[in-house]
Amino acid sequence: MSVDGKIAIVTGGTTGLGLAISRGLARNGATVIITSRKKSKLKKACHLIDKNCYGFQLDLSKKNSISKFIENISKDVRHVDILINNAGFPFKREIWFKNIHDISEVELMNILQVDLIGSFQLTRETLKIMMKKRTGVIINIASTPAISGHICGSPYSIAKAGLISLTKHIALEYGRYNIRSYSVALGDIYTDSMRRSLSRSELVKAKNENTMKRLGQPEEVAKSIVSIAGENFSFSTGNTIIIDGGKVII
Ligand SMILES: NC(=O)c1ccc[n+]([C@@H]2O[C@H](COP(=O)([O-])OP(=O)(O)OC[C@H]3O[C@@H](n4cnc5c(N)ncnc54)[C@H](OP(=O)(O)O)[C@@H]3O)[C@@H](O)[C@H]2O)c1
Repeated sequence: MSVDGKIAIVTGGTTGLGLAISRGLARNGATVIITSRKKSKLKKACHLIDKNCYGFQLDLSKKNSISKFIENISKDVRHVDILINNAGFPFKREIWFKNIHDISEVELMNILQVDLIGSFQLTRETLKIMMKKRTGVIINIASTPAISGHICGSPYSIAKAGLISLTKHIALEYGRYNIRSYSVALGDIYTDSMRRSLSRSELVKAKNENTMKRLGQPEEVAKSIVSIAGENFSFSTGNTIIIDGGKVII
């Protein structure tokens, strides 16, 4: 398979989509480096992923944690082939349902720091590694509100829209290094975090908002990402791939 032998970093790889993506990459022959803020979650998740999984602590809200992470992985690996910027600030109902005029500075900055700024900073350091071997793939996990907008949750949409822009910049600035980049804009995917965050009626509503009338499964997203990260997409870059059961069609 096309990610066979590759080295991949998946941020937030211990839960939900990150875990499914890490498993998908590992099953197809990649060595996977997963990250979590909590050391205790890493060992358990690696056990679920593969023997070729290594866990490292990373807090994207702290710049020194990002440099420490890069320093730590550089002791073990000489190259990074794939970076999946998957980690996102935890879903909080009390922030999500607010409109712009009610959002505090702290709420805004917390979300932007993890979803956008931390991902940018990690991307910047990873690009330096990828440029040396003149190859790499960076996939940013975005979300459909970044494309369509939404009736609430603006800090999240704005952060994810920033990631889509980052994707385009990586593609245009580093195509000559054979570094490809993609955004994956997700609709409603049934992860543990979504199950915990939404009520039964909200889940039914989410399901009925797309044309397939169901929630996506993390494994479906993982399959698409493995494909994009591999050679199947070798002459495509900078694009946003929407995985949402046909809710947002452009
Ligand atoms: N599920 C959906 O329907 C959906 C839809 C659109 C987009 N997405 C996006 O998909 C990604 C994964 O979502 P999910 O549903 O799988 O949720 P999840 O299980 O809550 O995953 C979020 C991950 O982000 C990590 N994280 C949070 N704060 C962090 C920080 N400060 N530094 C580093 N890592 C941090 C967490 O890792 P630790 O707690 O272990 O540190 C966690 O593993 C997110 O970016 C989300 O916005 C999800």
